[in-house]
Amino acid sequence: MAKTVWVTGASSGLGLHTAMALRDDGWQVIAGARSFGSGEQPDDGITRLPLDVTSEESVRQFCAAAAEIALPDALVQCAGMLVLGSCEETETEEFRRVVDTNYLGMVRMNREVLPLMRKRGGGKIVMFSSINGLLGIPFQSAYTASKHAIEGYAECLALEVKPFGIQVMLVEPGDHRSGSDKYRPHAASMSDDSPYAAEYESATKQIHHDETNGSDPDVLGRKIAKTLDRKHIPFRKRIASFDQHLAVYVHRFLGARINAAVLRKYYC
Ligand SMILES: NC(=O)c1ccc[n+]([C@@H]2O[C@H](COP(=O)([O-])OP(=O)(O)OC[C@H]3O[C@@H](n4cnc5c(N)ncnc54)[C@H](OP(=O)(O)O)[C@@H]3O)[C@@H](O)[C@H]2O)c1
Repeated sequence: MAKTVWVTGASSGLGLHTAMALRDDGWQVIAGARSFGSGEQPDDGITRLPLDVTSEESVRQFCAAAAEIALPDALVQCAGMLVLGSCEETETEEFRRVVDTNYLGMVRMNREVLPLMRKRGGGKIVMFSSINGLLGIPFQSAYTASKHAIEGYAECLALEVKPFGIQVMLVEPGDHRSGSDKYRPHAASMSDDSPYAAEYESATKQIHHDETNGSDPDVLGRKIAKTLDRKHIPFRKRIASFDQHLAVYVHRFLGARINAAVLRKYYC
């Protein structure tokens, strides 16, 4: 019998590619996103249900509806967004929205799914972090903070759920061509008069360039599908270019001053 995976944030980008790769690998895929209505479904073998991970009620409804179709052998969490802006000018509300979606969205999903997996005697929980879960870059502080929160939370989660046969995997993608800029708004207070304007423009150009020239999301989807087929999955799966692996290495081993010099030269 086909194994079942629930995938959040599967209406576009890396979530959609991962859902398609898992379907192609024989998984029964139940996908969630805000833009999925409860009406007619495309006939592509993926079941789509509405889901807003920032709403407890929506998360509960999604999990109840999905559980009626099939309980999850795996949960893959891709729902995410970012707001670009300086630390000084990004509003508290903008920080809250990013953390609520990226980090607390996963907390809500896990709180619903863990009891189901415990009762079944196991499961796999995959959480999309980022290279930014490991290092900060300028003007992405809300996003970077949310991804660091996911990294810390996942370490705790993995230790707690091991006795129940539940495995946890962090996916740490580098830049990929997700094909969408719609969840990357500029902070409302950023303007041409900003004291950060020149460096902000340089950094956001670089960020946009890196993403539009990033890696193929199809390949990422297939790598995740292949990894999920394994009996034992790794705790961390970094899917990134050589340069981005190198950036993590520089950040970890060469000290704060060299790291800052390298990153400022690159972005600012
Ligand atoms: N692209 C990259 O280079 C890259 C690099 C590192 C990490 N990542 C991570 O990979 C994941 C996917 O990123 P992406 O680039 O593919 O982004 P994307 O194309 O913008 O897709 C984001 C997905 O999240 C969903 N979403 C947003 N808010 C939601 C909410 N409140 N509830 C439910 N679903 C929500 C969106 O669907 P709806 O609008 O329909 O809800 C969409 O399906 C994110 O976690 C991101 O941080 C991406």
